[in-house]
This record gives sequence, structure tokens and C-alpha cells, in this order.
Amino acid sequence: MPRRLRPIRDPVTLIVDGDPVVAERGEPIAVSLVAAGRLVLGRSVKYHRPRGPVCFGGRCDGCLMRVDGTPNVMTCHAVTEDGARVETQNVLGTAEHDLLSLTDWFFPEGMDHHHMFTRFSPLNRVMRKVARRIAGVGTLPDAPRPAVTPREEDVDVLVVGGGASGVHAANAAAKRGAKVMLVEERRLGGEAALRGESSARLGPPVLLRERTTALGVWHEVGAGFRGREQSEPVRWVLLGDDDGVIRLRARAIVIATGAEEGALAIPGNDRPGIVSSLGALRLLAHGVLVGERVAFVGAHDTLDVARAQLVAAGATSVGHFGSSEVDAIGGRPSVSWVRARGAKVSCDAVVTGDAPSAVYAIASQAGAHVRFDGRGFVVSADAEGRTADATTFAVGRCTGRSGEVARAQAERAGELAARPDGAVASPEVARAAHERAPRTRDVSTADKLLACRCEDVTAKELAEAVSRGHGDLEGAKRYTGFGTGWCQGKQCVALCARLLEELGGERADAPITPRPPIHPIPLAELAGLVDDEEPR
Ligand code: FES
Repeated sequence: MPRRLRPIRDPVTLIVDGDPVVAERGEPIAVSLVAAGRLVLGRSVKYHRPRGPVCFGGRCDGCLMRVDGTPNVMTCHAVTEDGARVETQNVLGTAEHDLLSLTDWFFPEGMDHHHMFTRFSPLNRVMRKVARRIAGVGTLPDAPRPAVTPREEDVDVLVVGGGASGVHAANAAAKRGAKVMLVEERRLGGEAALRGESSARLGPPVLLRERTTALGVWHEVGAGFRGREQSEPVRWVLLGDDDGVIRLRARAIVIATGAEEGALAIPGNDRPGIVSSLGALRLLAHGVLVGERVAFVGAHDTLDVARAQLVAAGATSVGHFGSSEVDAIGGRPSVSWVRARGAKVSCDAVVTGDAPSAVYAIASQAGAHVRFDGRGFVVSADAEGRTADATTFAVGRCTGRSGEVARAQAERAGELAARPDGAVASPEVARAAHERAPRTRDVSTADKLLACRCEDVTAKELAEAVSRGHGDLEGAKRYTGFGTGWCQGKQCVALCARLLEELGGERADAPITPRPPIHPIPLAELAGLVDDEEPR
């Protein structure tokens, strides 16, 4: 089971489904719950399969809970406060024992909701009513919120992502005299800090906003900013922080959002207790060990770092397996074994890391091209960070670069972004080499291999989509609904692209369109963006 590696420094008490849970003030609620041994935080929408945190970084569906009357709070982003009420959603019973999970048992090979109960219309009407009552995520908030008025800001260069590449780009732009803002979802340092590598230092002229998320990019004609008439489209970026939203205009944007792993194509891949390698490192940074007996699955340098750090912190590695060597992960409700190389290996956590994919949504909305390289997605950018859009630059791991190459790219991109005349589009493809993910198994017959956790879409449904002529990524999305859930495809799109190709569908040339806002935000914050004189 997970455990804290140090005593709680400043204790507060959360009320979790009526029970007191002692936590550390200011840590993410999901971290507190996992540290208290609560790996199951919710249930999936369709089969009511158990769900737990995977990424601790806003990229999955595993940590959604109701907090102080607000539904669907990503508890890995919400911090603890004394007396906060935290409640499980969408269950009949408890998160661990949910009566609605009978659906999972009743449909062991998945349910075809496209055709189920459609032959006899009275029964179909009844089933639609039942489905409406038990499907969905969360219920309405306890009270309505007033619209939140956005703050507005102007900078020359916005850098999104506070890892090493973002810092190098921001410093280079600031040295050229540009007004630079760097936004980082969590704390400055990014993956390098989690890896224990020395982090790049940010120069003082750069305006740093930590715990601030770039939520989307809009191109608006005529009303870009209140009180200013615009005849040309105005591009603005919506930022979200603890105080609401900021509508920001930047002459140039540098994307340094890094890459993250998605789900693996292994039956049982959605069990609570399976965390990504970055998720395990984020948990460890809060002083919490993900498990005592940990199986490592995949092959990636971040996974190697996670393994070394977890073992140094006291975990036992029960094995490090390639993803094609593991044919099932099981346990109820959370993970207790993996079947690898033909043998069942007991464990209480699985840490995965195989095919990181660019965190591409903001880059795509800002006009950069994003392409599939056989394993995941990568933002197309040249050695100077230029993309297909003249005022959008992309640097570092999201472009498939790391180390000194990424540093040179980031510094050059920062210099160009700072120059009003530095904008030149470059559609150059960043990684020409075509890689293929290892084929894992016959995905069309593996029961309940979850391709999309948020919407409970199985590999079988993808196979069905291909057989009905929806073998392209967008078509399969429309047929099955993958990528339309809470994480908006962050966990599943790369996996679905790989599976579709293996199932005989088309090779993806781009991801599904990532529309803003890329992270869920309260409607009150969106409502505040509407100018008073505009009809609501
Ligand atoms: S753990 Fe919160 S979104 Fe993944």
C-alpha cells in the first residue's frame, strides 16, 4: 500500500465521505487520499469500473470527486484545506463497493450500446431513462456561482511550461528585452526537477506564474479585448489560476509543455494502483511512496528514473517488464498482480512508462502542426523551435528533443520570439524517423481492454468501428466516443491511434482536434468572458 515517507508537517482534516482523513495542508487532495490508503476514488461512467489517480498531473479521469459541493474537481489539482468535504461521485454504495458495478459483471465482454435494446421500442424507452439516471459524471453544484470577471494582460512572449526548455526560452527572450511571462501548471522545474536533475534558473525579468494553466487559444475578430476595436483576428490565451481566469494577449507563444505517457494496451490497464512514471515521481515529490511491491512496465528513461527513486525510497521492485511481456493486470478493486512472462507476480502498484506523447493541445490551437510518429504525437518544429505558425514556437520534449539539443532549440526560439521580425513559419518535421510501438497482443479479442478510460471504450469497439468503415482517428472517435471524456483524450488518443493501426484502420496523421478549454473549468469562469453588451 502507499505510505508517507515523512510525518505530516502541518496537519489538517478532510471529511471524506463522512470520515476524517488527516492530510498535510496545501498538498493535492488526491495525494492525501492515496497516502491514506484510498486508491479507489471513483467509478467509470459506463461499466462503473474502479478508478484511481494515474498521473497526478491533470491528464486522466482518476481523481474526480465532489469537493465542498462542487462536482468533478480534479483532486490532483485541488489543495487541502481544513474541514474540506470530499465526496465520491456516481456510486450506489461506496467507491470500493458500488452496486452499479454489476454492469461490468453483466457485460464481461463489453456492451454494444449502439444496438442494445433497440429492437423493441417500449423497452428501449425504459432503458434510455435508466441510462440517463445512472450515466454521466457528478451532479449539479450545491449553489450557483456568479460569473467571474477575467483579468486581462498583454505580454510580448508567453512561454507555456516551466521545465528546462521553457526556462531557457524565457531567459533568452527576456535578455532580448521582451516582456516575457512563463506559466507553469505546477511548480517551476518540470520533469527535470522530478528526475532530480539540476533545474535551469529563471532570470529576474521574466514574470513567473506557477499553478497557472494555459486553458486554450482563441482567435477572435472584432472583440479581442474589452474596449478595443480590432479589425484583424486577435489571438488570445486563456490562463486559469486559483483566482479565476486571465485573458492574455501575446505577440509570440513558446510551447514547452513536454511529453507524458498515456495508457498501455494491456487488459486491466485501468485498475487503481497503476500510475504513470511521472505520476509516481509527482507523488514521491510530496513524500508519498506509491506502493511497497511495485511492478515496472514499459521501457523509457523516465520509468528508469522512477524505478531508481522508488527503490531508493524503500519500495521493492518485483520486476521490470516490457509492455509486450505483460498480458494482464489484475486485482480487486485495486491492482494486486501482473501476469508477466507467463507467471503471476504479486504487487501492490504498477508504474508504467512506454511511449510518451507530446502535450500538444495548446501548440495545436496556436497553429502548430502535430503528427503521429507511430508511438505517440509530436509537435512539428525545426531546430530553432519554429512551427507551421509564424508566431508559435515549440521546444523541448514536446518536439521530440531533449538534452543539449533541446537547450539550443529553446534558446534560439526565445531569441526569435522576442524579435518582432523573428516570426517565420517552418513546417519542418521534427522527427522524420518512423517508429512503431511493439505489437502487444490480439487486441480485437482481449476482453475489456480499455482504450479510453473516461468513456469506457474498449479495443473491441475500435475493431467494430474499423469493420464498419470508421478506421480513421476522427471517424472512430465519432463512432465510439473515445477522447470525448473528462481528460479530453490526454490519456487515450495516442493509444487509440496505435490500436486503430493494429486493427487494420488508417494510420493517423494528426490527433483529434483539441478544442479549448483543454482542462475543465467552471461555467462561471467561461460566463465571465462574455462582454456585457453581448447577448448571453
Ligand atoms: S490524477 Fe488527477 S487528472 Fe490524473
